[in-house]
Amino acid sequence: MKHKASVIVPSLFIALAMCACGISLPAPDTAETSNTVEETVIEQPSDETITDDSTFSSLDETAAPTDSDGRNILVAYFSRADENYNVGTVEKGNTQMIAEYIAGEVGADSFHIETVTPYPANYEECCDTAKQELADNARPELSGTVDMEQYDIIFLGYPIWWGDMPMAVYTFMDSYDFSGKTVIPFNTHEGSGASGTYSAIEDYLPGAQVQEGLAVQGRDAQEFSNETQQSVRDWLDELGF
Ligand SMILES: Cc1cc2nc3c(=O)[nH]c(=O)nc-3n(C[C@H](O)[C@H](O)[C@H](O)COP(=O)(O)O)c2cc1C
Repeated sequence: MKHKASVIVPSLFIALAMCACGISLPAPDTAETSNTVEETVIEQPSDETITDDSTFSSLDETAAPTDSDGRNILVAYFSRADENYNVGTVEKGNTQMIAEYIAGEVGADSFHIETVTPYPANYEECCDTAKQELADNARPELSGTVDMEQYDIIFLGYPIWWGDMPMAVYTFMDSYDFSGKTVIPFNTHEGSGASGTYSAIEDYLPGAQVQEGLAVQGRDAQEFSNETQQSVRDWLDELGF
């Protein structure tokens, strides 16, 4: 078991404060999220419009998109919609906001890491569930899979939960062979920063090359101002994307 308890300690008091102080937030909406690799839908033209067969034979719907260096990139992220700290009830999670921007900028596929049993829409209840899973070092079952073999670079996004990654992210890391792949973490939080999770990922995935991550405050991610967008863009520039 490689899960390091040490990353939990520095931020635990923040999570405790956020989860236990009875913050008054609006009632949750129900929000639908998907858990599949986004499909490219290629509209079939009518017979008359086909003038050059090679246009269509060159399109391969199963291939992962590549960047200008020919690398296949995936943005895999855990993110929870509904009621959350500092943002109220949202239809799209904070981390998902960042994930979608990254995927668009680098030309990547997206994979939403979701659990078979959804987390409670209520913030306090979600805190309780997450706390118990952390205490149990649980590996909640995921509801989707991705063909990891076809990707060279994986952006891995998640929120900080109780000073750590959600346990579902550990399930995700357990589910695939990351040897020889580049893993680039990014996260959202409400005060804990990355909370030691980048080095935790490095320890957990010794065969992967883990690069410098980016931590964004959850509310900033949700609002996604030009300034926030620029900070993500700058980070991508530094990484060479
Ligand atoms: C169960 C739970 C635990 C959390 N624990 C922390 C924490 O320890 N430190 C912190 O800075 N933020 C914590 N947060 C806040 C989230 O990290 C933050 O709202 C994040 O942006 C949520 O991302 P998401 O909308 O993509 O799920 C917690 C939120 C939840 C729901």
